[in-house]
Amino acid sequence: MVRIILLWIMSSLLCLAANAQVIHNGIPWFDEQGNIINAHGACIVEDGGRYWLFGEYKSDESNAFPGFGCYSSADLVNWRFERIVLPVQKDGILGPDRVGERVKVMKCPKTGEYVMLMHADDLGYNDPYIGIATSPTINGDYTLHGPILFDGKPLRHWDMGTFQDTDGKGYLLIHHGPIYRLSDDYRSIEAKVAHVEGMGESPAMFKKNGLYYLLTSNLTSWERNDNYYFTASSIEGPWKKQGYFCPEGTLTWNSQSTFVLPLRRDNDTIPMYMGDRWSYPHQASAATYVWLPMKAEGEKLAIPEYWDAWNAAKAEKKLSIQGREQVHNWISDKKGDCLEREFDGGRIAVVGKTDGNGGYATISISYANGKVLDKLFVDFYSKIPDEGLRFVSKNYPKGKYRLRIEVTGTQSAWYNKKKTIRYGSHGYLVNVTKTIEMEADV
Ligand code: GLA
Repeated sequence: MVRIILLWIMSSLLCLAANAQVIHNGIPWFDEQGNIINAHGACIVEDGGRYWLFGEYKSDESNAFPGFGCYSSADLVNWRFERIVLPVQKDGILGPDRVGERVKVMKCPKTGEYVMLMHADDLGYNDPYIGIATSPTINGDYTLHGPILFDGKPLRHWDMGTFQDTDGKGYLLIHHGPIYRLSDDYRSIEAKVAHVEGMGESPAMFKKNGLYYLLTSNLTSWERNDNYYFTASSIEGPWKKQGYFCPEGTLTWNSQSTFVLPLRRDNDTIPMYMGDRWSYPHQASAATYVWLPMKAEGEKLAIPEYWDAWNAAKAEKKLSIQGREQVHNWISDKKGDCLEREFDGGRIAVVGKTDGNGGYATISISYANGKVLDKLFVDFYSKIPDEGLRFVSKNYPKGKYRLRIEVTGTQSAWYNKKKTIRYGSHGYLVNVTKTIEMEADV
């Protein structure tokens, strides 16, 4: 009997350990304190045996810069919120009512300092700068020094990314083409080394087997589009335009590139694509992340399949959520309509359809007595139709709980930077196909 219990405990622990490694794309993630992980336009730095995730700590109400946040993790799945490493400043390029985006951090090999670069702007995107901040520790208070300078002048650009080469040199990647090499202390710009004709926004770069890959999106604001890439055997170029890295029409599996993290696995390096699935105006809770391993073989770069669940340790596809299913096929766009289901603790998952007429739902979990434990927005909008996981709750102890999905009668819709094109949803539909109840951790 004791042996059986021990075996059971061991297999549950193994199962927990295995499951704790799963990345679920396109749904809100929770940190170790149970708060939503809020790190958009992000990057990851591997340092001191941990992964450090930096991102825009968005709000649900406005696009004004609310600070850059930092999280850390040993496995890319379980994240601890470290702190807001760069808060709203009293004034200057990241003062009140400014925009702060695409934060990128690198450790400067020469000085040992952590250097943060970002896009700073006004709310109308008419006053762009590339800003620089530094900190002696990775998760410390970053000191903002203002705009980074080239030939004594600030760079007036918006979307940016960074790349650190194997020789320790740091690069700043700019929308629509320019690539700049940073000085040895990473605090200023030494030279413009390339101009990649045909580039778009959201640049991200990695190198594998001596070949450089540069990812970029088209100019469609927060709307998704088919992102594409370039290759070169030297960072100075010539850069060759290669085409899409996700199947055409999937709109980069419904995401926009922000960074590529080289995953060191089994003597191989697998580039991990990091993308944003934006959701304006509720970016803090309803915008999600798409992280997927990429296949890079010579000039061919691809994410051939969308995995809604994958094992970060092995970079392998996992079967999506399994458990007790209830089919609902429930569709409504009437504000206040709701779908409810009871469950006995563990996790509850929501599977649903999104399309061009989708709107926001609120999803809440409460005790049987009505006390609400968690409540957040979930977006049922996507430009191209999709069916998949929309939400997986935290793991609750055994008990009586109620899941409630309510139609808000609001939608994700916004304008481009010049305020000339309207993007987003044309309806308020919430479309839930099924819910799945899981006893154990996933
Ligand atoms: C694009 C950029 C983002 C942000 C939005 C705002 O998606 O890549 O960083 O500036 O536009 O419209």
